[in-house]
Amino acid sequence: MNNTENQPVYMMAIETSCDETSVAIIENGKTIRSNIVSSQIETHKQFGGVVPEIASRKHVEVMTVVMQEALDEAGVRPDELSAIAVTQGPGLVGALLIGVIAAKSLACALDIPLIGVHHIAGHIYANELVHDIEYPAVALVVSGGHTELVHIPAPGEFHIIGQTRDDAAGEAYDKVARALQLPYPGGPHIDRLAQEADGEIVMPRAWLEADSYDFSFSGLKSAVLNTINQLQMKGQTVPGSHIARGFQNSVVEVLVEKAVRAAKEYGARQLLLAGGVAANRGLRERLTERFAEIEVPLLIPPFKLCTDNAAMIGAAGFLKWEKQEFTPLDFTAEPGLKLETW
Ligand code: KG4
Ligand code: ZN
Repeated sequence: MNNTENQPVYMMAIETSCDETSVAIIENGKTIRSNIVSSQIETHKQFGGVVPEIASRKHVEVMTVVMQEALDEAGVRPDELSAIAVTQGPGLVGALLIGVIAAKSLACALDIPLIGVHHIAGHIYANELVHDIEYPAVALVVSGGHTELVHIPAPGEFHIIGQTRDDAAGEAYDKVARALQLPYPGGPHIDRLAQEADGEIVMPRAWLEADSYDFSFSGLKSAVLNTINQLQMKGQTVPGSHIARGFQNSVVEVLVEKAVRAAKEYGARQLLLAGGVAANRGLRERLTERFAEIEVPLLIPPFKLCTDNAAMIGAAGFLKWEKQEFTPLDFTAEPGLKLETW
């Protein structure tokens, strides 16, 4: 095993929880030597969403090629690897299994340890690849599958203080985009329309109970669908950009104000933004303004580290490497893996 004092620790990380096959080589948990992402979006686009069976098959097709490319680009030989980190869950079970089997096979062949990683821990620790995280921190995780506020008192310790009761934020974006006949994934299209809009159809905000950090986006989604239907029934044109701005303002206001309250209550030294929806310009702008007002530093990873990628899995996996907390070879993919006990 290659972990003597002066030698760098090279970790291979593998991510296949949804529709991206990604392999990265991370040096000492911090430096990205390579981060190859093979996206299946073009394949799934024609179906308007991710088709699980197709996702698994595509991961099988490209896995070894992506692994080789990650090693080549990093200039690292397999026998220089110290460990392999892999997304264990949550995600699509068939897709996760491909990454897990690939990781196990290589770890067996090289006789090096395996580290199972929670996908959301990865999204959160994408921030560590660009800045040092200070504790206690609060993370706002907004992706296609998750919307969570997470209190992080110490490295790798997670307490979910709020989460969505129905749709994830990205999922709501994609569904509203579909209703407006925009291509999949719709988030970036709604974001663009909202920026371009010269007006807004105001939509409701789901604050839930006064002390709750939970979210709900299904009522908002229904409000948007009703608005579109009513306009169509009256034979009026649907002002897509006004709807996009109303929807986006509602999502952003609720996300930001709950994050502000959580940061204050938990004495956060930083707010960490994570997940694909972190690319949203409206969300970034509003968060930046509000966190400047309350004087809590805001960390936002660069876009390529916000969407699914293996480098973030390596960053989170390194926390376990430091504790020499390895995952037994007989572990399996867990689509319902819990963040608190990852
Ligand atoms: O984190 P991610 O890559 O995958 C999951 O783990 O789910 O997030 C993908 C989600 C999609 O729902 C996509 O529409 C959304 O992120 N997204 C955006 C933007 N860019 C991507 N949503 C809103 N505004 C954006 N600019
Ligand atoms: Zn993700």
